[in-house]
Amino acid sequence: MSDAALQPATQPPREMARRLAGPDAEVVIRVTDLEVGFGPKTIMKHLNLDVRRGEILGFVGASGTGKSVLTRAILGLVPKRAGKIEVFGEDLDRLSRAARKAIEQRWGVLFQQGALFSSLTVKQNVQVPMREYLDLSERLLDELAMLKIEMVGLSPDAADKFPSDLSGGMIKRAALARALALDPDIVFLDEPTSGLDPIGAGEFDELISTLQQTLGLTVFMVTHDLDSLHSVCDRIAALGEGKIIAEGTIETMLASTNPWLKAYFHGKRARAAFSAGN
Ligand SMILES: Nc1ncnc2c1ncn2[C@@H]1O[C@H](COP(=O)(O)OP(=O)(O)O)[C@@H](O)[C@H]1O
Ligand SMILES: [Mg+2]
Repeated sequence: MSDAALQPATQPPREMARRLAGPDAEVVIRVTDLEVGFGPKTIMKHLNLDVRRGEILGFVGASGTGKSVLTRAILGLVPKRAGKIEVFGEDLDRLSRAARKAIEQRWGVLFQQGALFSSLTVKQNVQVPMREYLDLSERLLDELAMLKIEMVGLSPDAADKFPSDLSGGMIKRAALARALALDPDIVFLDEPTSGLDPIGAGEFDELISTLQQTLGLTVFMVTHDLDSLHSVCDRIAALGEGKIIAEGTIETMLASTNPWLKAYFHGKRARAAFSAGN
C-alpha cells in the first residue's frame, strides 16, 4: 500500500463506499508494529493491520487472545507500549486535543460489556455522545435520538424504556443506535451478536449490512459468529499469539493451514454454518 493511501482523501459518495472496499480502497485505520501488554504480560507484539474504507472487517481469534484489547488500543482506551495507530491518515499520537476530538466524533463503538448505562433510558443513552460532542437544543437532541432509534429497527416506544426492560436483541440495537449517534464513518462492534439466539443474530447481521451500505460505514467487527463471518464480512483478520496470523476473504481463511484457523473454520460448527446456504 502506498503512502498516498493514507492521505485523508475527499469522502466518496456514500453509495460508492462498498465498491471501493477492494485492495485499492483508502486505508482508514492502519496499525503498525503495535505492542500492548499489562505488567509482565505481553498481549500483542509487532501487530500490523489495515482497515479499508467501506469494508466490514471481521476480527476473529480464540478467547483471550486480545481482540477487545486491540479494539480498545485503537480507541486509545488501553495504552500501547510501542507502534503506531493511524486513523484517517492521522497518527493518533501526534494530534492536538481538538484534532483528537474531531477524530473521536467520526467513530462509534459498541462495547462487548456494559453496552448501555442502566440508569438512563434508551433515548438518554443515545444522547450521551451527542451531549459530549455537540451543542444542540433539547428538541433537536430528541429528534436526532428518535431518528437513530428508528434506524436500528426499534419502535418509538422503546425510547423511554430502561435497559432492564429490554430483550438482549433490543439492548444490542439500542447500543448500536448510540454508536451511530454522531453519524460516524467507522463503527467498532465488539461481539455484537454474542448472547443472541441464531435468529436474533441473523437479524442483527442484516441490520449491520444494511446500515453499512446505506450509510457507507467502515465496520470493524470482533465476532465469534461463523454466520456473520460468512454472510456480512468482506474481509477477515485473525489474531493469534499476539499477531495477525491470517488476513483476507473467507476463502483465504478456509485455505489456511494454521491449526487454530483449521479447527475454527473447518470444525463441526463451521460445517453447519457454511452449509446453511446463507
Ligand atoms: N486492563 C487489563 N489489565 C490486565 N490484563 C488485561 C486487561 N484487559 C485485558 N487483559 C488481558 O488481556 C488478554 C486479552 O483480553 P481480551 O482482549 O479481552 O481478549 P478477547 O480476545 O477475548 O477479547 C486477556 O488475557 C486478558 O485477561
Ligand atoms: Mg473480547
